[in-house]
Amino acid sequence: MSSADNLVFHVRPGGNLTGTLRVPGDKSISHRSIMLGSLAEGTTHISGFLEGEDSLATVWAFRALGVDIKGPVNGEVTIQGVGMHGLKTPEAPLDLGNSGTSMRLLAGLLAGQGLELTLVGDSSLSVRPMRRVTDPLRTMGARVETTAQGTAPLLIHPVDQLQGIDYALPVASAQIKSSLLLAALYAKGTTRVTEPAPTRDHTERMLTGFGYPVDRTGATASLRGGGKLIACDIDIPADISSAAFFLVGASIAPGSDLLLEHVGINPTRDGVINILRLMGADIDILNQRDVGGEPVADLRVRSADLRGIRIPVDQVPLAIDEFPALFIAAACARGETHLTGAEELRVKESDRIQVMADGLVALGVDAQPTADGMVIRGGPIQGGRIDSHGDHRIAMSFAMAALRAQGDILIDDCSNVNTSFPGFVTLAASAGLAIDSETEA
Ligand code: S3P
Repeated sequence: MSSADNLVFHVRPGGNLTGTLRVPGDKSISHRSIMLGSLAEGTTHISGFLEGEDSLATVWAFRALGVDIKGPVNGEVTIQGVGMHGLKTPEAPLDLGNSGTSMRLLAGLLAGQGLELTLVGDSSLSVRPMRRVTDPLRTMGARVETTAQGTAPLLIHPVDQLQGIDYALPVASAQIKSSLLLAALYAKGTTRVTEPAPTRDHTERMLTGFGYPVDRTGATASLRGGGKLIACDIDIPADISSAAFFLVGASIAPGSDLLLEHVGINPTRDGVINILRLMGADIDILNQRDVGGEPVADLRVRSADLRGIRIPVDQVPLAIDEFPALFIAAACARGETHLTGAEELRVKESDRIQVMADGLVALGVDAQPTADGMVIRGGPIQGGRIDSHGDHRIAMSFAMAALRAQGDILIDDCSNVNTSFPGFVTLAASAGLAIDSETEA
């Protein structure tokens, strides 16, 4: 298939979601498992790895950096770690595709390696802001260049030694925090990163799992450079961000009763459950357990009458990837839902405020975008044709909207669903969504 081909989702209206299913592995944890496994001493075994294009971009990058990585095969990956100083100069620029996490975390991880490197991405990644990581990395002594617009390609030049810094994040971003903590492994002294609100803490948890001490005091995570990582086994839970489409779909479609197995419910990621419950959703958290330092549970969701709410601002960073799905829930709720404090949505894989508002309006929903959020009045959803702008989460969210639509929904530009959720169409169809995909030239 050429990149000009258009993968279209065709979803017929109605139906509900039932049964038991496991969505693919957590994307954030998958990236980090490759990064830390590559830098560790010894052999790291990973299970539950996300075989999506984003996390595969990280695998390819570390192979190009000279790391022996076997798999993924059925979610199993084996990495022969090269140690903190074993990476080699790649022969070509590292192409990170659509993956913002790969680019921002690698910028930090690679800044202190003493290597000359170039990081490139696709058309979406090449317009996303990168100074948010390169500015603080420069303060640490890194030589990392962006384009004049502050975007990729990123050029990383060798330096002798990074210095630890104290840095207060201007935005609540796990990617910036993680980028700086990974650079800090190579810095002299201690680096302290303070966040304005809690963001996903997988980097801190996984560093600890690899035997690297990380301190957390209040809003500040800190570590001292110069240590080492010891290989370990990692069992990656199912991605709550992928489960979110099914949590919303089963909530809005009458007669639904779905069990989502082995879902990561880290408290820095569980905003979607909290927000849906505030809207009246019927979600049970079952068999809660700890898997390799991450909390995991089975989630049972049954349909419910949702009501519009004012989304608490403190939940925004904890649900930052789930708003496209939550907007569909809001469109099916009684009354108005107000989201504020979510301007970060404008710099994701697409401008998720504008693209979701445009799609909702195309389906006859009263949705008013604001600078930092949206106001959505619940009501009937018509059939129609949606442009996903190549954004995986927009495509999957509108697919779920069909469960309550009055006509067919066609969604354009869906091939990037493979970045985070390979097999979405098959899995969603097995649960009861009337979805097909077809390629248009
Ligand atoms: C991620 C952090 C979030 C999230 C992204 C993955 C991570 O980005 O949107 O999908 O793995 O650290 P920000 O840190 O930019 O909010």
